Amino acid sequence: MTRPITILMEEHRIIENVLGSLETFALEVEGGLALERPFVRDYAAFLRGFADAWHHGKEEDILFRRMVERGFSADSGPVAVMLLEHRQGRALVGAIHGVGEGTGDVTPAERTAFLEGAGGFIPLLRQHIQKEDNILYPMSERVLTPAEFETMLGDFDAFEKKSGVDGTRDRLEALAGRLSEAFRPDEARMAAGSAGGCWSRG
Ligand SMILES: [Fe+2]
Ligand SMILES: [Fe+2]
Repeated sequence: MTRPITILMEEHRIIENVLGSLETFALEVEGGLALERPFVRDYAAFLRGFADAWHHGKEEDILFRRMVERGFSADSGPVAVMLLEHRQGRALVGAIHGVGEGTGDVTPAERTAFLEGAGGFIPLLRQHIQKEDNILYPMSERVLTPAEFETMLGDFDAFEKKSGVDGTRDRLEALAGRLSEAFRPDEARMAAGSAGGCWSRG
């Protein structure tokens, strides 16, 4: 496997862990645990900072862009579907972020917004990751040349230097670790979710 694809797949494993943690948290909230805004803020900070800016940023600005240059459509087909799912994910994480940023007691409407956001986002991103690992990334390795992946590695470095000021990556990885400690991902649920199962409310 090429180095850029290995990097992206390693990031998938970190993201999946936090999705598993968020799932445990959401299920506990559904079971009656008080919804504390600081946890919601932390999940939103990881999902926006790492899953979206750091990871989807490299996919969109570098890998997918290169695939489009090599003839993949940005309007239909596999790359277009991945871009659409990134946008759908942003809307769902936006709802979670909104609850985290609220003040005062969490209202029933906010609790519902959080559960719907998490309930929509977790299966969406799990299945998105499976499609990339199993279909889109292998496809990119068949179409792009080793020299292009070499260039891409330099582009990844430049992207990370630009985005990773003040130890952003380390901070977000530490946050992922803390969240997974506070609310442990359930291996069986994660495996079922990745196999195409669907976490849903109730
Ligand atoms: Fe993606
Ligand atoms: Fe990805």
